[in-house]
Amino acid sequence: MLRFVSARGPTPQCPGRSVRMARNTLPLRQSPDMATQPQYYQHHVFFCLNQREPGADRPSCANCNAQAMQEYAKAKVKQLGLAGPGKVRINKAGCLDRCEQGPVVVIYPEGTWYTYIDETDIDEIVEKHLAQGEIVERLLID
Ligand code: FES
Repeated sequence: MLRFVSARGPTPQCPGRSVRMARNTLPLRQSPDMATQPQYYQHHVFFCLNQREPGADRPSCANCNAQAMQEYAKAKVKQLGLAGPGKVRINKAGCLDRCEQGPVVVIYPEGTWYTYIDETDIDEIVEKHLAQGEIVERLLID
């Protein structure tokens, strides 16, 4: 018989629990102010890689080369020396619910949404937005 055992503290598989538990012991008025917390990444980038079943009533970013473009962006960021804490992180995401405008990628903390077609578009997002902090107007979605 299988039993689910809830571990309350840190485990080898979930070491972050010790941090979260320590934070949770602070009274609210002593909690760090979110506005003054340093950002772990300067830019955190999420590519939707969602794949729906054939015949679904909404499009899927995965059908628009999203996986290859996410991998390309990750390699490009690394190649330019932009990857890592304090810099840029390229991540995969599930559906971001902007399917009809996809494929989509969102960059935080700015909350800038882009669409793209190919490596040329990814190059521009990486070189202008992530490296220089400039918005790529032509790829913005509303
Ligand atoms: S499938 Fe990509 S935003 Fe929904």
